[in-house]
Amino acid sequence: MCGIVGCVAEEPVAEILLEGLKRVEYRGYDSVGMATISGGKFGVRKGVGRVAEVEERLQMSRLPGDAGMAHSRWATHGGVTDQNAHPHASCRESVAVIHNGIIENYVPLKKALSSRGHRFRSETDTEVIAHIIEDEYKRLRDPVKATLAGTKKLKGQYAMAVMFQDRPDVMIGARKDAPLIVGVGDGKMFLASDVLAFIGHTDRTIFLDNLEVVELTKDRVRIFGPQGKEVRRKPTQVAWELSDVSKSDFAHYTLKEINEQPKTVLTASVQDPAKLEAFAKAIRKAKSLYITASGTSYHAGLLMKFRLNKEAKIRVDTVVAGELKEHAGFLGKGSVVVAFSQSGETADVMEAVKEAKKHGARVFSIVNAAGSTLARESDGVLLLNCGPEVGVAATKSFTAQVVVANLVVDAVLGKRRSNGFKELSEAVAETLKCDEQIRDLVYEYSSRPDFYFVARGYESPVAMEGALKLKELSYIHAEGMPASELKHGTLALIEKGTPVVVLNPSGSLHADTLSNAEELRARGADVIGVSDVKDEVYRHFVRVPKVQPKFAPIVESIPLQLLAYHMSVAKRNDPDYPRNLAKSVTVK
Ligand code: G6P
Repeated sequence: MCGIVGCVAEEPVAEILLEGLKRVEYRGYDSVGMATISGGKFGVRKGVGRVAEVEERLQMSRLPGDAGMAHSRWATHGGVTDQNAHPHASCRESVAVIHNGIIENYVPLKKALSSRGHRFRSETDTEVIAHIIEDEYKRLRDPVKATLAGTKKLKGQYAMAVMFQDRPDVMIGARKDAPLIVGVGDGKMFLASDVLAFIGHTDRTIFLDNLEVVELTKDRVRIFGPQGKEVRRKPTQVAWELSDVSKSDFAHYTLKEINEQPKTVLTASVQDPAKLEAFAKAIRKAKSLYITASGTSYHAGLLMKFRLNKEAKIRVDTVVAGELKEHAGFLGKGSVVVAFSQSGETADVMEAVKEAKKHGARVFSIVNAAGSTLARESDGVLLLNCGPEVGVAATKSFTAQVVVANLVVDAVLGKRRSNGFKELSEAVAETLKCDEQIRDLVYEYSSRPDFYFVARGYESPVAMEGALKLKELSYIHAEGMPASELKHGTLALIEKGTPVVVLNPSGSLHADTLSNAEELRARGADVIGVSDVKDEVYRHFVRVPKVQPKFAPIVESIPLQLLAYHMSVAKRNDPDYPRNLAKSVTVK
């Protein structure tokens, strides 16, 4: 959600900002804008629409100036209008601001500011920040001090970039419970919600801590703590490269990322044994244990729970992050919470972690974005090592999560080594060959209003993930559930020709799942089997290679991801940026 890109350089910045905006597009947004300073004045261009559309209309990249900031807005307070797009300037246009987050006390603040003569031009919560900092700047005449004083009045979450009309050499950043990262370049410094925004210019980053304020000039970065004391922090190098964020020869990022999985299941499997053991020890010793996550990551958490319950005989619950608070009665000193998150910035996950820590629990996380808030606030972290994921719908991060979760469970079980990743990678590559067959299925079923996905046991979360993927990308109604549940309600919805995907690997649950497939066929469903063994009950059959049972969800996910992707394309949706969704959901 809301993307921030700021740059102070020894050259014009508008083109650099536009490129950065394109790189944070995946976060999800409805409007964009840019402000630069030139000749002692702000130039602001902003409007509703995609980056390319607004650029075509308003030529943001023509804004002159060596310092500027750009923003992609995901509307929360105030409708989707040109006026509500960021940046927002104070009434005297002495201060401009872009912001990601929610200012919870903006109503009383706005009232107080209005009564002091401030005039508001938007309906956003963000605009109060510009007016407050304008007042503080008038009083303190120092950008850092004014921002520190201004932010102390705010309740809620924020990551922001602030510019001062009479200080074109300086940009200020501030954050609380929302991501803000500094990029340290040569002759140009960056502020962004995400390293991807500046990765083409520098790989040296500084992650800001909560309540810190940063001052950027073209050749210097200074960080200040909440009391204004300067903090020294060296930049760290990020492993991601510019080529990681290009589409290569693929039509969409999502397709590229699906196809990267033979590689990413291998890179995810390379973990530091000491870190794995620390993770496993915490799980073994936990007085109470929860796994928490949102969206696709939650499904990976369900898979981990299954193996911990069944194989390690450890009692654990997987709870969606937005609901963990309701289980706080079971959290205390000695509890452990395992959090899964691709971005490491999901607000629901961060809230859950905060709640867990409040009760004395330790937090261990499985994260893709190194340096993300979750990674930094955890007692132990395992990284997914699958490279940046740009497509809004998680694909390669899910299979990487399943790999890492399996490594942790194996460590809990006392297995010193987990083997078979080379074979897994080959099996994923083999499974990707079903692409043509999936396109045929899409051709046959693209006009169906509903899809169902069913499975038993360890595969049940995969059925849920298949349904989620299809909903996200194709906007077709889909449900995923344990096959045993069908007869308790959903069977009533099955009609002639209703497509039902049945995940059914060989093993102890195979026969029962086949019976459910029979029940479905008897009611007219078109059963699409995904398995390593064919059966005549399936009207369509997608063969996946036989792999170790713990890896089966990984290969089974591939046809489901391709189904969602090709369905999206067939319906002329944009698979990379599905409507109403954001990659990184940084509001509750
Ligand atoms: C959003 C995305 C989902 C993702 C979920 C959790 O809703 O659209 O694809 O699964 O957030 O994200 P996380 O970064 O915490 O894994």
